[in-house]
Amino acid sequence: MGGGLGHDGGVAERKAANLTWHEGQVGRGEREALLGQAGAAVWLTGLSGSGKSTLAVAAEAALLRRGRLAYVLDGDNIRHGLNSNLGFSPEDRSENIRRIGEVAKLFVDCGVLVFASFISPYRADRQAARALFAPGDFIEVYVQAELDICEQRDPKGLYKKARAGEIPEFTGISAPYEEPERPELVLNTGRQSVEESVGALISHLETGGYLSC
Ligand code: ADX
Repeated sequence: MGGGLGHDGGVAERKAANLTWHEGQVGRGEREALLGQAGAAVWLTGLSGSGKSTLAVAAEAALLRRGRLAYVLDGDNIRHGLNSNLGFSPEDRSENIRRIGEVAKLFVDCGVLVFASFISPYRADRQAARALFAPGDFIEVYVQAELDICEQRDPKGLYKKARAGEIPEFTGISAPYEEPERPELVLNTGRQSVEESVGALISHLETGGYLSC
């Protein structure tokens, strides 16, 4: 997969002029000290059915139970509201990821550990999201599972519909997925259990110093 249908990603045009940035009185450091953690965007990318959302909600729950503030932004959920005007063309996926990158950046500024669970199939879009963050604030996690495993799982019955030609531009079937080249972490959900993957994710955050501050 990858290649062919790739695109450059979009840099949104700013339409408004005469804008002034207002700084708050309290900086991110103070918020992080209050929370006892460092904010970060944990960006989970992978095929539909690879386990992104399962891992995101399990990691969120594990962190909350340890007294850490975490929050999940999920593709299906965000497309119900904020991004309900976007479909699955390359351009719309770019805009989806651009908006989520910006939203995740706000959460990180709040000191929150935010899990962004989106297929985010294009490298250029993930790179543009990463570029919004300071080094260390963006953790790309490749939730890896072979296409045939995702298709067997088919939790929403979408692969079946895509194979029947009922869903155009379906990632992995009729639209590309560009694998991450240098993700901070790879979790293979075909080989490891949810508990093992979540454990690896949390220990990555622990050793990175995100859970104490
Ligand atoms: S992304 O490509 O723009 O990152 P996103 O993660 O927001 O996608 O949404 C993916 C979810 O939308 C899938 O898990 C699936 O439930 C649903 N979906 C509906 N149509 C498609 C499609 N053509 N390709 C991929 N996912 C689709």
